[in-house]
Amino acid sequence: MSTDVSVDLVALGEDFIRDPYPVYAELRARGPVHRIRMPEEADAWLVVGYEAGRAALADPRLSKEWGNASDALNLTSPAAGSHMLNSDPPHHTRLRKLVAREFTPGRVQELAPRVQGITDELLDAMLTCSSGRADLVESLAFPLPMSVICELLGVPFLDRNQFRIWSNDSLSSGSRDTRRAAAQALAGYLDELLEQKRHRPGEDLLSALIRTNDEDGDRLSLDELRGTAWLLLVAGHETTVNLISNGVLALLSHPDQLAALRADFSLMENAVEEMLRYDGPVETPTYRFTTEPVEIGGTVIPGGGELVLVALADADRDPARFPEPDRFDIHRDARGHVAFGHGIHYCLGAPLARMEARIAIRTLLERCQELTLDAHPAALAWRHGMLIRGVRRLPVRW
Ligand code: HEM
Repeated sequence: MSTDVSVDLVALGEDFIRDPYPVYAELRARGPVHRIRMPEEADAWLVVGYEAGRAALADPRLSKEWGNASDALNLTSPAAGSHMLNSDPPHHTRLRKLVAREFTPGRVQELAPRVQGITDELLDAMLTCSSGRADLVESLAFPLPMSVICELLGVPFLDRNQFRIWSNDSLSSGSRDTRRAAAQALAGYLDELLEQKRHRPGEDLLSALIRTNDEDGDRLSLDELRGTAWLLLVAGHETTVNLISNGVLALLSHPDQLAALRADFSLMENAVEEMLRYDGPVETPTYRFTTEPVEIGGTVIPGGGELVLVALADADRDPARFPEPDRFDIHRDARGHVAFGHGIHYCLGAPLARMEARIAIRTLLERCQELTLDAHPAALAWRHGMLIRGVRRLPVRW
């Protein structure tokens, strides 16, 4: 491990995990690129600020292929196979095209009534609780995206709790061994699932991906199918859960904004964009590796597989792009935020995530007129790791 670290994020402990924004802002005031030690135990280069962040996300010299990572980093990919988010063009272009053929806006739109139905069922169950209290993560924010992604992919009998543990562990366990073991268990599970779909195909996305062909007869290999199933399942539920919970937390901690939204639900679309900007689910997106030296704002990041992270969380709080960025304001124009990334890897699931969040939060507010936080905001426990930002539990009462 190199010794030239300028900021040791691990040493900042829980304070950084709970509220990383002031740390990023301080770094941004010093410049766009910093050498950091991250909680995941590797040393990396962190890019902060909106312009520098967007430029880095679109820079073809920053590769998404783990084969380009320097051996010195000693990293293991959590993925269960190759997929679009761990590949560069032309492989990325091919994979994204094949998946986008099937994961269409039409397929997403067709899911809207089911999203509403699942939300209603989950809230029915939550509201029968006689104490008038619940953990919103457990009652709504987690099970909704999980059920939706399972229905979309055609995974009816998935052991959801087991899957959640594997997925959580493979992405954000503090132990490298646990991360590896969880990733392996997930890969084995997905192989079995694909085998079942091959024999008994349905109308679901996974069956469609197994049989899809493009004009040239190109199709996904077993490794690509496993990788893509993994990506969609993990991306489909590790992220949207935190859009719903961080979004509701922002509303409950800003009563004036909550009242404005309750008074006019036509603000919902805008409010969800502001939730994505203000406290989005992805703090620093997936790893990038230098294939040649890259100069950003006067700092040269060496080539040879150095690890580069882009702080989306900071880009969306950059006052040069969003005035008074630390203010949560559902009326502001939050468009242009990078919560879904930028460039060729821009989130393929953004329309689904937006639809789920709008339906879930609106229905929650309509059915719980007196919804309040049942904990002090400072007492909430946040998930570890730099990839995902979200509370572990969100106690509410009504
Ligand atoms: C609020 C919820 C979500 C957020 C904040 C989010 C965020 C992101 C971000 C930041 C990226 C780019 C990562 C990078 O460049 O390193 C990404 C990519 C991706 N996301 Fe999402 N995502 C969300 C929900 C979803 C859902 C529901 C799905 C699918 C079911 C999905 C599927 C994908 C896929 C397939 C990619 C890779 C695109 C590519 O490499 O071309 N995401 N997402």
